Amino acid sequence: MSEDYSKLIELERYYHSKLFPKRDYVIIKGKGALLYDEKGNEYIDCIAGHGVMNIGHGHPKYIEKIKQQVEKLVMVPSGFPVEERAKLLENLAKITPKSLTQSFLSNSGTESIEAAIKLVLAVNRDKKNPEIIAFKRAFHGRTLGSLSMTHNIKYRKPFLSWLTQNVKYASFGDISSVKELINENTIAIFLECVQGEGGVYPAPQEFPKELRELCDEKDLILVDDEIQTGFGRTGKMFAHEHYGIVPDVICMAKAMAGGLPMGATIASEDLYNKFKIGENYTTFGGNPFVCAAANAVIDIFRTEPLVENSARQGEKIMLSMKKFAEENKLIREIRGKGLMIGCDYRKRVKEMISKAEKMGVLFLNAGLTVIRLLPPLIVNDSQVKRVLEVLHEI
Ligand SMILES: Cc1ncc(COP(=O)(O)O)c(C=O)c1O
Repeated sequence: MSEDYSKLIELERYYHSKLFPKRDYVIIKGKGALLYDEKGNEYIDCIAGHGVMNIGHGHPKYIEKIKQQVEKLVMVPSGFPVEERAKLLENLAKITPKSLTQSFLSNSGTESIEAAIKLVLAVNRDKKNPEIIAFKRAFHGRTLGSLSMTHNIKYRKPFLSWLTQNVKYASFGDISSVKELINENTIAIFLECVQGEGGVYPAPQEFPKELRELCDEKDLILVDDEIQTGFGRTGKMFAHEHYGIVPDVICMAKAMAGGLPMGATIASEDLYNKFKIGENYTTFGGNPFVCAAANAVIDIFRTEPLVENSARQGEKIMLSMKKFAEENKLIREIRGKGLMIGCDYRKRVKEMISKAEKMGVLFLNAGLTVIRLLPPLIVNDSQVKRVLEVLHEI
């Protein structure tokens, strides 16, 4: 490694808040599903920026669009109508269920969840002690509201004194455990149709429908966290489509602006009418630059078979790994939908992930025992073949 690159790693290790273990190489370029380091090593990127780069790295249409926009207009606040925001708001209404027409635009997944929490609280402003139901293994973010609903105690413990106690955790997939938690204070249920960080657990087929019915019966708001699952990740545009439900609120982020920071909280006019002017705002949210990026992403989804490829390649990986698991007792279970796949082992996966990295494939973990695959949705046949070879080998 040249002097400059090792210096660069040193600077990151020294000056970055000590929250991230740093790798010992430098990524200098990305193209499609591939990343390249400073030595010219090539990696198949099954991390995709933690499920962000669904359209792949360096998509030409995306680059063209954001180049044009950066020259035209980067930032005016939400009070000034601008072309790209107007287009995006319409686009979001078109790609989500018909009743969800209104969006609040923010800058990340956790912010889109915070906005949903504020929305359900605003709708229920008459309730003195409102409670929310989330699920065991759920991950909704790390700011204090969303963290209150993130189940893993490791993430919550240092901050418990500032987290709300008004979240109750039900067992994922078990409707009776949800029913047991509902009381006169319950206002909403937050759901990931496929739990991601918690280990890649798709909901049992009937569960979201049962939740929908329960929410209708008890007048609760069903919030669908599509931050990781959205934008084709699971082989449908949104994961709730696998289950035939219409949520009351959808939170999205990650892939929506192709790598630029953006979140959206989308709900019906009925719900958003209960929010009053000034009750939520964020400076950067919905700026024209990021809106243009998100419009480019949606255009790419309209014109290229990303969702289909996600379903097809995902099924291929799942089938191959399930077959492999029959002979390999180290594998506990293969779970997932589309290109959101978890290989759950009967041992810790850290070493296997390092081994794969040396073989040119980047994997992510989900907890201690799950190797998680979240490749760009443009991943092709030969790349999938290589990913499978490496998975078998490690
Ligand atoms: C399901 C889900 N919700 C919320 C978040 C938080 O998103 P962000 O990291 O953009 O704040 C994540 C991030 O991994 C997620 O997977």
